[in-house]
Amino acid sequence: MATDVSEAPAASQNSLLRFLTCGSVDDGKSTLIGRLLYDTKMIFDDQMRSLERDSSRFGTTGDDIDFALLVDGLEAEREQGITIDVAYRFFATDRRKFIVADTPGHEEYTRNMATGASTADLAVVLVDARQGILGQTRRHSFIASLLGIRHIILAVNKIDLVDFDEAVFSRIVTDYQSFAKTLGFASICPIPLSARFGDNVCSPSSRMPWYRGKTLIEQLESVETETDLTGRPFRFPVQLVSRPDDSFRGLSGEIASGSIRTGQEIVLAKSGQTTCVQRIVTMDGDLAEAEAGQAVTLVLEDEVDASRGDLLSLPDNRPTVADHFQAKLIWFDSSPLMPGRSYILRTENHSTSATVTTLKHQIDINSFMHEAAKVLQMNEIGVCNISTQTPILFDAYGENRVTGNFILIDRMSNATVAAGMIDHPLRRALNVHWQTLSVDKKVRSELKAQRPAVLWFTGLSGAGKSTVANALEKMLTAQGRHTYMLDGDNLRHGLNRDLGFTAEDRVENIRRTAEVAKLMADAGLIVLVCLISPFRADRETARAMMPEGEFIEIFIDTPISVCAERDPKGLYKKAFAGQLANFTGVSSPYEAPEHPELRLDTTAGTAEELAAQVAAYLAGHAHPV
Ligand code: ADX
Repeated sequence: MATDVSEAPAASQNSLLRFLTCGSVDDGKSTLIGRLLYDTKMIFDDQMRSLERDSSRFGTTGDDIDFALLVDGLEAEREQGITIDVAYRFFATDRRKFIVADTPGHEEYTRNMATGASTADLAVVLVDARQGILGQTRRHSFIASLLGIRHIILAVNKIDLVDFDEAVFSRIVTDYQSFAKTLGFASICPIPLSARFGDNVCSPSSRMPWYRGKTLIEQLESVETETDLTGRPFRFPVQLVSRPDDSFRGLSGEIASGSIRTGQEIVLAKSGQTTCVQRIVTMDGDLAEAEAGQAVTLVLEDEVDASRGDLLSLPDNRPTVADHFQAKLIWFDSSPLMPGRSYILRTENHSTSATVTTLKHQIDINSFMHEAAKVLQMNEIGVCNISTQTPILFDAYGENRVTGNFILIDRMSNATVAAGMIDHPLRRALNVHWQTLSVDKKVRSELKAQRPAVLWFTGLSGAGKSTVANALEKMLTAQGRHTYMLDGDNLRHGLNRDLGFTAEDRVENIRRTAEVAKLMADAGLIVLVCLISPFRADRETARAMMPEGEFIEIFIDTPISVCAERDPKGLYKKAFAGQLANFTGVSSPYEAPEHPELRLDTTAGTAEELAAQVAAYLAGHAHPV
């Protein structure tokens, strides 16, 4: 390579640069990665021979080598391991090592890109010289900026196809710079290149005398990134409390940022306890000092109350502890984000239940404008307030990408549905505290001589939920039990009168009703809830709000044909006639419970007989807490 090393800026010798390439399908992403691997001699001889053979047989480049085939070949291998969405390729020059995240897949591109970008220092944004800046270019650049990437190489590819025209290049650069102004990149380095022929990739091109800037590899080798995690405040997420025997107890994990020495004082974020680091233990023996990226076990001087999920820091620079914060979300899933629905939020080392309390706005990826939104659809980005069941320990994503990021997981499918970046805690979370009350649930429950419960009747409209619950309430009252019935139709006249039957409104209907049921159970009552509650996820959300064993799901299982036959309110008739939108079972789905505590077949008994089954179940559940 024709680079004078002495002149190059001081990217530290042999440092590691993580980057990703973004581009649309035909921009030449695979060709560029193939070219980089080839020119940096990272391709083995046997791969090379088969590449030459395949290029002449299947390639699209005549007698030349089709570098895309190389990467696509690796992709096919990768597809067998379907769990890996992002392939990391390694290559090196004399001056730096590189890991490039190759993010395949078109529909799932956002998900893959978010995964690849969250650890990258730089993004190579590929643009086809013939096409210029596309919607995708803006989208990828925006996501890169959102994920904290500060350096961009604008690779204007296929410059050979526009006759190496400087004017085309300049126009693209101006376009890019004008829209990227607001994205906060520290550097944007435009390079005209041809991945296919290698111009300005690893060697300067003689065909563009007007270009005197760096080649792609020179820029990759020399760009100074400030992702020096070691210089940041010390953060150690505890992955494991390791206790192989009574004499040893250590906290294991990987240092997310900063460094630590033996003897230094640290604080545990959860309890606020402080102590000193006695030993830093690694597989290769003890260390006096360790820094970001190292996996270590810390032995502390005092016996402390530490567990997985805790975070160690220095006393003068602590992470935030809060259960309500603002964050940006990139939504991946085909079913939309519903505010009010409960998801599992996972940080680096901790999981808890979380709900989006407010979707503040969605960000239009083309104009970067904020737009009102009720839900977030696949690939959309939004700013929202999130509330967690237990407090989490974090930093703002802008301060620390490891302790500031999280993912959301769907409770039912276990799929990762979103990537999140925390902005800041909400004041409410810091200033609203639980009031300790002296007369508590236990006292109230004992006074009523009963164990509180939430009996959750779910089923189609007309299934018989209210009829059975009504019979049951009479029966329980006769036994001297204290009950209260929360009926969907009735609540919709008051508390929930502002809600309709769209999926978002049902989520909110169920969330509010579950909150009320929870309060009533806290008052010591046996609460009977009758809601269609058609979505499993929302019933699980309600269940997760109550203590173990308190939520009893009762599936009123009546075939839709029977419900439609009964049609007590004439709604099925209207729905079948197409006059009622979102009607459960007809124009909106009903997801039957998979493991209800009780399933009642209303075609097999009277309301009283079915109510007696619930009463019998409750008898085994009746003692005060
Ligand atoms: S839920 O789905 O949000 O749980 P909820 O139980 O509160 O529904 O309300 C259902 C009642 O609203 C039904 O019993 C029916 O009387 C009435 N209703 C009116 N429109 C609809 C609709 N589109 N889908 C279901 N129920 C409807």
